[in-house]
Amino acid sequence: MLTQDKETISRMPRGPITATQEVLKVQGGAQLKGTVRAAGAKNAMTKLLVASLLSDKRCIFYNVPDIGDVEVTVALCREIGADIQWDRAKGVMEVITKEIKTSYIPQSFSGANRIPILMIGALLGRTGDDIIVPTVGGCKIGRRSVDFHITALEKLGARIEYREMRREGAYFASAHNGLKGAVIELPFPSVGATENTILASVTARGTTVIKNAAIEPEIVDLILFLQKLGAIITLDVDRTIHIQGTRRFYEVEHTVLPDRLEAASWGMAAIASKGKVLVEGAQHLNMITFLNKVREVGGGYNVKSDGIEFFYDGPMQGGLHIETDVHPGFGTDWQQPFVVLLTQASGASVVHETVYENRFGYCQTLVEMGADISLFRQCLGGKSCRFASQGHLHSLVVRGPTPLTGRDITIPDLRAGFAYVMAALLASDSSTLRGVRYLDRGYENLVPKLQALGADIERSQAAVLPGTEEAEGPYGLANFCQSPFGELS
Ligand code: EPU
Repeated sequence: MLTQDKETISRMPRGPITATQEVLKVQGGAQLKGTVRAAGAKNAMTKLLVASLLSDKRCIFYNVPDIGDVEVTVALCREIGADIQWDRAKGVMEVITKEIKTSYIPQSFSGANRIPILMIGALLGRTGDDIIVPTVGGCKIGRRSVDFHITALEKLGARIEYREMRREGAYFASAHNGLKGAVIELPFPSVGATENTILASVTARGTTVIKNAAIEPEIVDLILFLQKLGAIITLDVDRTIHIQGTRRFYEVEHTVLPDRLEAASWGMAAIASKGKVLVEGAQHLNMITFLNKVREVGGGYNVKSDGIEFFYDGPMQGGLHIETDVHPGFGTDWQQPFVVLLTQASGASVVHETVYENRFGYCQTLVEMGADISLFRQCLGGKSCRFASQGHLHSLVVRGPTPLTGRDITIPDLRAGFAYVMAALLASDSSTLRGVRYLDRGYENLVPKLQALGADIERSQAAVLPGTEEAEGPYGLANFCQSPFGELS
C-alpha cells in the first residue's frame, strides 16, 4: 500500500462509516464584489512536478496551488522516490529526487487523474528501465484515449505494451537502449501527448521535433522550467517544438504561472452575478480569446497592473458563436461556466465543442434549473470538427435570459462543478452541491474565496444519496478504502 494511502487512511475516522458527505449549501442572489487571487495553475504545477523527476537536482517552486490534484501528484512523485517539502501556507515546494526508487506506479493511482501517463515520458527520460503505469482517469468528458502519447514515445524508441492486469490494465514501457530524437507529428495538438513527448525527449540522443504540438500557456511554463533545468528547447510560431537532448542539469527556481482557468471562472461569476471582482494574477496574454467573448456578450473588464477586474456592464446580449479550440482558441475549460453566463444574456447563442465529444453532460441540470438549452449532434459552427457525423451531442444553442432556481446537484467533473456553483449563485433560492471533491482538486480555497466576495455559501454535511457515485461508485462509500483520491481532471 502507498505511504500516502496509509497516511490518509490513518487520518480517517475509525468506526462505522456514516453515510454522510460534504456538500456545499448555496443561497443564490449575492453580487460578487471584492478582490480574489488566482492560484498557480493546476495544469502547470502537476506537470512541473513530474518534469522535476528528470534530474537529481533541487527544484524550488513558488506559487504552488494548494489543491487536490497537486496532492495526488506529490503522493505519486514521493512513491517514485522524490523528497518533497511543501509549505502550503507559503505556496512553496522543494523537490529533489536523488534516485528513482521504483518505476512501478501502483494501481491505486489508476483512475486518479491524467498525470500517471506522463510518468512514462519522465521515467523513460530518467532511467529507461522497465516502467509500469496503470490506466489513466480524469473527468468523463470524452473518450480521452492516449494513443498519440504511445505512438510518439514509440517513435523515440520506447517499447510500450498494454496488458490487462487482474483488476485493470497497465502500460509496460522500456527503453533499454535509450531514447533517440525523432520527428513526430501529432494528429491533434494534444496537451498531454505534447507534454509526454517533451519529457521523453529532454534526455534523448539527438534532436526531437514535435510538429502540430499543443502550445497552451501551461506547456510554455513547462518549457521555461525545462530550459532552466538544462534542456535546449525552442518553440516556433507554427506549433513546432525542437528539443536537443541533454543530461546536464541545474538547480531550478520556478514560479508557477497563475491559473487562467480559475481566473476566467472568477471573471464569469463576477459578471453573471452583476458584481465587480478584481482577479489578481489574471494575465491578459493568456486570456485574449476569452476576453473577446466577454466584450461580445457585454461584460466589462479592465486590465490592471496586478490583474484583471471583471464587472457587470449592463444587460448582456447573446448572439455569440463560441467554438472551443486548442490554445490560442477559446479554451474548452472555459466553456461550461460561459454557458451559465449565456443563460443570463438576451437572445440565442451557439456553442460548438470541438475538443471533447462529451462535454455537455452538465446541461441537463442547468435545464432543470430553468436554462433554455438545446443540444445538437451536428457541428453548429464555422467549421466541422473531428466529431462531425459521429453522433455526439457536441453543439448547443442557449437562449436567455432565463431565471434559475436552486436544486440538489451532483457535480460530475471539475469545470461543470464551477458552472454549477455559478448557477447556484444566480438562482433565486438555495441549492445543495454534492461531489465537492471535484472542485477541491482544481480550485484552491474555493469556499473562503467566495465568502470573501460576499457569496452565501458554506460547507456542511448531508446524507449520501443511494445510487449516486458517492455511495456506490468505484471510490464511493461502498468501496471506501480502495482509493482515497477519487477521479480528477
Ligand atoms: N486525444 C486523443 N488521443 C491522445 C490524446 C488526446 O484522441 O492520445 C484527444 C482527447 O480525447 C481529446 C483531445 O485529444 O478529445 C484533447 O486532449 P488533450 O490530450 O489535449 O487533453 P489532456 O492533456 O488530457 C488537458 C487538461 C484538461 C484540458 C485539456 C485541453 C490536464 C491535467 N488536463 O487534458 O483540463 O481540458 O488539456 O486543454 O492538463 C481541466 O482542467 O478541467 C481539464 C479537463
